[in-house]
Amino acid sequence: MLSELDQILSSGETALSHAASLQALEDARLLFLSKKGALASITERFKEVPKDQKPLFGKKLNEVKSRLETLWETRKGELEDAALESSVDATLPGRPVPRGSLHPLTQTLYRITDIFARMGFSLAEGPDIETEFNNFDALNTPSDHPARNEKDTFFVDLPGHPTEGKLLLRSQTSPVQIRVMKNSKPPLRIICPGRCYRRDEIDATHAASFHQVEGLVVSEGIGLADLKGTLEFFFKELLGDKTQIRFRPHFFPFTEPSFEVDVSTPLLAAKGKTWLEIMGCGMVDPAVFAAVGYDAERYTGYAFGMGVERLAMTLQGVPDLRHYEQNDLRFLSQFAG
Ligand code: DAH
Repeated sequence: MLSELDQILSSGETALSHAASLQALEDARLLFLSKKGALASITERFKEVPKDQKPLFGKKLNEVKSRLETLWETRKGELEDAALESSVDATLPGRPVPRGSLHPLTQTLYRITDIFARMGFSLAEGPDIETEFNNFDALNTPSDHPARNEKDTFFVDLPGHPTEGKLLLRSQTSPVQIRVMKNSKPPLRIICPGRCYRRDEIDATHAASFHQVEGLVVSEGIGLADLKGTLEFFFKELLGDKTQIRFRPHFFPFTEPSFEVDVSTPLLAAKGKTWLEIMGCGMVDPAVFAAVGYDAERYTGYAFGMGVERLAMTLQGVPDLRHYEQNDLRFLSQFAG
């Protein structure tokens, strides 16, 4: 029986160490090392071994078993490495991981807020759902003003909401002025970026939801020259040194006097346009100060509000603002960088 064991060892060694594939190796393992293999069956016949040879046979049996197991493990490793190597082509280009980037409107918004931050403005925010008081009344907007019509503004019905008066989706960022003034004392120098909502027909230049950046400065001795100087600096920073601005008299309920601001920049001239209407502004109306409890004899201030989409379209050469909302990667990826 000892010679039989030698036989198993030598044929097992050959079969295991020369297996040409993982399948051949598995066949060899079944033949020699499995529960029904040659080693298992000779172990079962242990009782047939003459008593005096039992210790020697037992020792030899263990040696053969561990030798064949080691061979199996080594060969398995070799065959697996080979299989992996033949399936990897290190000369193939890697799979690129697409890199994300900020939305083009966010990029524009950051450029705007950066410039004002350098001038010492701080950031204020308000909710998209506003009270009719903050969005209109406190901003000196009479109840028969057309913007307060259901045709122009989205009113919101929240049953059981504790707020007095009606709620609406803010139609402008101007109510953030009211929130800030109600909660803090002058001097103030803030900008308030945010989303606004109007019941507009949607086309290339109108959306039911869009973004504005509001500005408010309140202190003693603030005048129109401060407003004009600030805006001139801002637009030159944003649109380039050759940018010009002009003020046209206008009307807003919350400023007196009020203006619309037009800009002219080489970016526009390249498209055959001259002046682009870009924002509203003016000196804060004393009625607004009264609504928030500020002393209108002591304090003066200016305010402005600009449309972010319009500026982004100018800066980025985008002809239709609907692109900004469609989330089409073919559009968005052009602004990655
Ligand atoms: N809220 C105005 C609008 O949406 C823009 C505006 C005009 C804001 C004059 C102001 C301002 O702060 O002073 O059309």
